[in-house]
Amino acid sequence: MAGKQVVFRVKRYRPEGGGEPTWQEYTIPYTDDMVVLDGLNYIKDQVDPTLTFRWSCRMGICGSCGARVNGAPVLTCGLFIKDVRGRTVVVEPMSNFPIIKDLVVEFDDFMDKLQSVKPFLVREAEKPVAEGEYLQTPEEVDAYKQQSMCINCMLCYSACPVYGASDHFIGPAASALAYRYIRDSRDEGAEDRLHVLSRKTGIWECTFVGECSVVCPKDVDPAGAIQNLKVLASMRQMRRLLLPKSARR
Ligand code: SF4
Ligand code: FES
Repeated sequence: MAGKQVVFRVKRYRPEGGGEPTWQEYTIPYTDDMVVLDGLNYIKDQVDPTLTFRWSCRMGICGSCGARVNGAPVLTCGLFIKDVRGRTVVVEPMSNFPIIKDLVVEFDDFMDKLQSVKPFLVREAEKPVAEGEYLQTPEEVDAYKQQSMCINCMLCYSACPVYGASDHFIGPAASALAYRYIRDSRDEGAEDRLHVLSRKTGIWECTFVGECSVVCPKDVDPAGAIQNLKVLASMRQMRRLLLPKSARR
């Protein structure tokens, strides 16, 4: 092979084989404009079509290409091969999720948790369409914009030691997205979400390690969102203790 070469060390798992994951090495050519995902696609197209992984947009939007590269959860489309430390690109599936095949993991647990916090605008009564849309000021949009940038990539769950120790924990992204809707001036679902988040499996499990915010490729800061949710949940609890039901909202 001409030009620069790099070794990809990839963790393989074939469910039909039944055994433990194994390592496989591929030496491939690369150029400075290639990201890790390009290397994986080179392997799949030119060397080994059985290598299985997810990707779609190649531009940090779809959130489907997450993996651990040299130990850190990253979007493989967002990391240049030339920037990987060490001479070998070690690629593994994201930790804390069941492996389906090779680098593909199962997200069903997250989808259930996300649904539990109602990741959509909740209205007690819709106003008639004739009365127009629900307008917001730029300041009202700014209140939730940061959390709305989440692309559901699950890097934060892969990095979270609390979720790694107990998958009952609702986790970073579901909490951040709950906060996103609670902060939206059009939403009226805060009470239901805070009820779910205040359970034993909710935000109080978070010990504020903060790794979720470190690895997040979109600066969503789920760790910060969870701490803000703790404040909101505490205020809700105080209202429940001190106010009659009719005056709690
Ligand atoms: S909070 Fe960040 S790391 Fe977690 S799923 Fe959303 S974009 Fe990915
Ligand atoms: S391929 Fe879409 S985020 Fe990487």
